[in-house]
Amino acid sequence: MKIFIDTADLAEIRDVAAMGVVDGVTTNPTLIAKAGRPLDVVIRDICEIVDGPISAEVLSTDFDGMVREGRELSKIHPNVVVKVPLIADGLRAVKVFASEGIRTNVTLCFSPMQGMLAAKAGATYISPFVGRIDDMASEGMILVEQLVSIYQTYGYATQVLAASIRHPMHVVRAAELGAHVATIPHKVIHQLLKHPLTDSGLAQFLVDAKKIPQK
Ligand code: E4P
Repeated sequence: MKIFIDTADLAEIRDVAAMGVVDGVTTNPTLIAKAGRPLDVVIRDICEIVDGPISAEVLSTDFDGMVREGRELSKIHPNVVVKVPLIADGLRAVKVFASEGIRTNVTLCFSPMQGMLAAKAGATYISPFVGRIDDMASEGMILVEQLVSIYQTYGYATQVLAASIRHPMHVVRAAELGAHVATIPHKVIHQLLKHPLTDSGLAQFLVDAKKIPQK
């Protein structure tokens, strides 16, 4: 499973990129707003740090606006993936982008049939928002399972990108279910890394290392 980091914070991206564990980056308007700089500037900077798919979301919600913005975003860097909301005009734009060789990440997916329509339109990635479904007292991972199964059954090339990940068990389940990608907040990537037995084991090794006779 590929790991993307879900942030527009350059320090967070640099931190995990230096460990070699990050295959790409996803952003959304909320994350870009937190970065406090224009969208194209932030995306350009991210592309300098990570050599992989970088999702940049269109801000328009009409077909012409999304196509215009998506074409502009795709010119920033060859790694840019245009993120498009899962609405009718969005799917029309995805169809155009697919015909032009522009990769897309269809976002705000909350049902398996939304995901099937996105695949038919030619989406490169589909983003089921697991955590936001959990917030509604439902089981977000069921949607990941359904999308993986439907895409496999019918041979759609669209990749399932588990999004709105909130904790390590979301990542474990996404991997078990065969999601192609999980986009994960910086904090959760560090949670995945930590284990108390690693820390206590290392502490003991350091204590014992002092007992090794020196030449
Ligand atoms: C990723 O593409 C999404 O924008 C993101 O994962 C949403 O996460 P949230 O529900 O925690 O805001």
